[in-house]
Amino acid sequence: MLLTRPRTTTDPLWQLTADCAGDVRPERLDLLVGVYRDDSGAAPVMDAVRAAELRLARRSPSKAYVGPAGSERFLGAMSALLFADDRLSARAAGVQTVAGTGALRLLAELLAATGPDRTVLLGTPAYVNHPAILAAAGLRTAIHPVTADGSAMLAAVDAARPGDVLLVQGCCHNPTGLSMPVALWDELAAALVRRGVVPFVDQAYFGLGDGLDEDLEGMRRLLRTVPDAVVAVSASKAWGLYNERTGAAFVLSDDAGHRTQARTLLENIARASYSQPPAHGAAIVEEILTDPVLTGRWRTELETMRLRLGSLRDGLAGLTGFTGLADQRGMFLTLPLDAAAMLRLRSDHGVYGLPSGRVNLAGIPSSRLAEVAAAIRAAGRALVPSS
Ligand SMILES: Cc1ncc(COP(=O)(O)O)c(C=O)c1O
Repeated sequence: MLLTRPRTTTDPLWQLTADCAGDVRPERLDLLVGVYRDDSGAAPVMDAVRAAELRLARRSPSKAYVGPAGSERFLGAMSALLFADDRLSARAAGVQTVAGTGALRLLAELLAATGPDRTVLLGTPAYVNHPAILAAAGLRTAIHPVTADGSAMLAAVDAARPGDVLLVQGCCHNPTGLSMPVALWDELAAALVRRGVVPFVDQAYFGLGDGLDEDLEGMRRLLRTVPDAVVAVSASKAWGLYNERTGAAFVLSDDAGHRTQARTLLENIARASYSQPPAHGAAIVEEILTDPVLTGRWRTELETMRLRLGSLRDGLAGLTGFTGLADQRGMFLTLPLDAAAMLRLRSDHGVYGLPSGRVNLAGIPSSRLAEVAAAIRAAGRALVPSS
């Protein structure tokens, strides 16, 4: 028999996405999956991406195997962008991965292989796939609540054992929208060093919070302080390359021997899993990041996306009376509505978000902002502050 333990569950996201697609009401609005949409509701290909693709097509690069580590030029350009500091980049060794998820999985496998007794400290609510990825790699997790002041996270680190790991999102936390201030990153770095806990940073939404460098600054400061770290990077959001599955996994260490070993281990894990990463998305990112003109175009487009998200967020905060929403950052917004209110939002108004209250802001056309805000007020009537 193929399935000896057939009972399993699916992520409600995909069921709700199918329900929304089947909803015949013309006003139905899909605020579920984390894909950026412009004001017309399209999920556009960025101009810089299109220009890079045209160049690649003209040059007809080879379709030969790229090897388990992928493109060295892509990795160099990504490392320069993320770490923005030659000394930090010199401490980083990486491999190209199958998007952010692939990077998370390879690094989780690496952490499990190099420290079978480790516990991974994970803030909750977590990105829905984090617990599954850690479990798939055989890692034990201990959860603590995600709070704006980071107090539970710092307490968890203070109670951890040397070699344990803290999984932390680099900015624009999915789903809470929290971006840690630099002072908290500094405090965290000191606690990690004190306890010998290894940071595992997941960078997925850089550029969509307070600005590209602003979003990466906290991580950069932390990485300058700690002796070892691992960083998973997704190119899905910042370059809109969702279905190209583009990302990178980096290991940072003061010890050159550890870096070499870690990279070989990552290559071996990749080799035994999918052998080699897909090349096209990484070639696009490489083309953009190694040409100042394309880099400039990409940064401008990313900034346009960020500003659109910010104006939608501020607009919703004002129109709903939930003023605290303005403090969130990134593509997602968590509404202060319970599952019953989110169900009302869906069934009475055709606005689809997750039962946890998470909505994809980019799915709201600005012309419908007032209507969506009114629907949120109506669905959450018991909770809405009176104006
Ligand atoms: C926090 C976080 N990390 C990682 C990912 C993985 O992204 P991808 O595998 O599409 O690059 C996502 C996707 O939604 C995410 O929200």
